[in-house]
Amino acid sequence: MRLRTVTLGQTARCSPSEAVLSSPSEATGTIGNRHIVIIYKSTVPACEWERLTDELERWKLWRRSFATVVFAPERDLVSVLRLDKIRKLYVESQSIIRSTMSQRMQQGQPMIVMSEDSQRVKDKDAQDYNISAARAVAEAVQSTLGPKGMDKMLVDSMGSVTITNDGVTILKEMDIDNPTAEMIIEVAETQEDEAGDGTTTAVAIAGELLKNAEDLLEQDIHPTAIIKGFHLASEQAREEIDDIATDIDTSDEELLRKTAETSMTGKGTEVNKEHLAQLIVEAIRQVTVEDENGDNVVDLEFLNIETQTGRSAGESDLLEGGIVDKDPVHDNMPRSADDADILLLDEAIEVEETDVDTEVSVTDPDQLQKFLDREEKQLREKVDTIADLGADVVFCQKGIDDLAQHYLAKEGILAVRRAKKSDLEFLQEVVGASIVSDLESATEEDLGFGDVTRDEEDELFYVEGEDAHGVTLLLRGSTDHVVDELERGVNDALDVVAQTVSDGRVLAGGGAIEVELAGRLRDYADSVSGREQLAVEAFADSLELVPRVLAGNAGLDSIDTLVDLRAAHDDGDITAGLNVFSGDVEDTFEAGVVEPAHAKEQAVTSAAEAANLVLKIDDIISAGDLSTDKGDDEEGGPGGAPGGMGGMGGGMGGMM
Ligand SMILES: Nc1ncnc2c1ncn2[C@@H]1O[C@H](COP(=O)(O)OP(=O)(O)OP(=O)(O)O)[C@@H](O)[C@H]1O
Ligand SMILES: [Mg+2]
Repeated sequence: MRLRTVTLGQTARCSPSEAVLSSPSEATGTIGNRHIVIIYKSTVPACEWERLTDELERWKLWRRSFATVVFAPERDLVSVLRLDKIRKLYVESQSIIRSTMSQRMQQGQPMIVMSEDSQRVKDKDAQDYNISAARAVAEAVQSTLGPKGMDKMLVDSMGSVTITNDGVTILKEMDIDNPTAEMIIEVAETQEDEAGDGTTTAVAIAGELLKNAEDLLEQDIHPTAIIKGFHLASEQAREEIDDIATDIDTSDEELLRKTAETSMTGKGTEVNKEHLAQLIVEAIRQVTVEDENGDNVVDLEFLNIETQTGRSAGESDLLEGGIVDKDPVHDNMPRSADDADILLLDEAIEVEETDVDTEVSVTDPDQLQKFLDREEKQLREKVDTIADLGADVVFCQKGIDDLAQHYLAKEGILAVRRAKKSDLEFLQEVVGASIVSDLESATEEDLGFGDVTRDEEDELFYVEGEDAHGVTLLLRGSTDHVVDELERGVNDALDVVAQTVSDGRVLAGGGAIEVELAGRLRDYADSVSGREQLAVEAFADSLELVPRVLAGNAGLDSIDTLVDLRAAHDDGDITAGLNVFSGDVEDTFEAGVVEPAHAKEQAVTSAAEAANLVLKIDDIISAGDLSTDKGDDEEGGPGGAPGGMGGMGGGMGGMM
């Protein structure tokens, strides 16, 4: 983007990009191919104002290039004007429409001329547009929900492939180019950050809330009544969840394993989920401490996940300490070291390169020898420093020169180069070291202490600290795609178990909690007056999407399932859920389909907030074209999203 101050009074002669107003403080810039002129109103004398408006009229002819004119109200804005400010003003400028231009001008108010490219959608159209876009996103992930949910294959612009069932991963990987859709993706991201699991549920509920809100809008119920009703319902839902949740004994490993298994189902971990659940519960147990109040605190900092391709997931393992999946740099180095002083180094053991390009002319062999000697000396000194510190093992994040490797081997030091940054960071915790980034200032204090053992079969090092601080979950799978999806599933399960251990409240899954909540919210609706009551009921209906989709994804009849579930809950069976494998309604808590209460609370809350955010919008003003230029035969995306959703995922429409 270009920014310059233009000279005055040359309008007649100059090209549009140089067109000018008689004011000393215009600034023009371009964003893309648009030009922006910012005029500081306070600097334009009243007598000039008319001329200015005339000139603007003329500019309309040049509209293509003079896309935006911003009349900034305050002069001092100019002094802090930066390119990003221009961009911001440009975006802000979209909030004032073309149609009010002349009116505002007469009133002498700050005014903006919008470009012809910009678009505005209002009222009902804006709501329709937003709701369709949000629903399209929700519908895109729904088919992945539950143990029988399918996976999605996402191909990015570079051709790299991700195969996953994880809601947030799908949405992040999809190349979505729609502002409303992005708001819904934020729901998934919040859910991932706060709860680690339940991202598909959160997004699906948000979509369903909007779908039901659409029906209410059709009945002429004002959006603010719907928003209020949704808000009341979500608050009530949180209370009900707390009431329904079962408090568990957090040392009950059997139950913790079930929460892990529930969270992992359908995520490529199916066959080995019992083994993995066992490892996950054990891992969390090892990184849990009690605080002074006797509450469990899970510190995931002490838990590291490593992945290896080549073997099956059933051979995944939990190891004390950390691992470094690298070879020693020299054959003559020791392969293992017990009670070792360990240096974690973030500096290359190489000859220091100069910052500037230099050329050295050598005129006789002695000079060359001297030059080489100097380099050798530098390396020698670095290795000596390491040896003097007393290090037995060096894990170096950068490179190690061949000669330095040789010196290190002679000193009997085990060295590894190009270790992963994340590994070094984890090893800090394991062996109690600090990562050294400048060898010269390193002290013995920076070294850690522990045992380093070589596993020749897997070609990696196990590093165990004195008090075995930290554990590593080593996940294995046959191919990269398998391991990646395994890691996502395991990550969800780790979060779920960690939450269960610290929160202690769990719920019956398989749609049991949603149906129970829906029933209770319908009862609650009776106590809500006005039109909000309808919104609370719509909220209750929306929650039942979960069992319906679980059933649908399992090839069962969703209406029949819902009817059966409601009947069971009406009879007071609050843990009645769907067994997706048999198709029967059963006590899912007993069957081991258990979910943490916190994740469900979060899913309901963030879905409601996102729906309300979307419903509150009655006007969309876009700098560019809201619809895509693609042909009519192009699918707009699932759910009949209007223009804009076509930009989603570049041709992913066919997949969903
Ligand atoms: N064995 C089971 N039988 C019935 N329902 C199950 C079973 N296991 C899990 N579920 C249900 O599946 C749903 C979770 O599905 P899934 O893990 O695909 O989505 P999510 O947790 O909402 O999102 P994500 O895991 O993608 O972040 C929950 O409602 C859970 O109760
Ligand atoms: Mg899940």
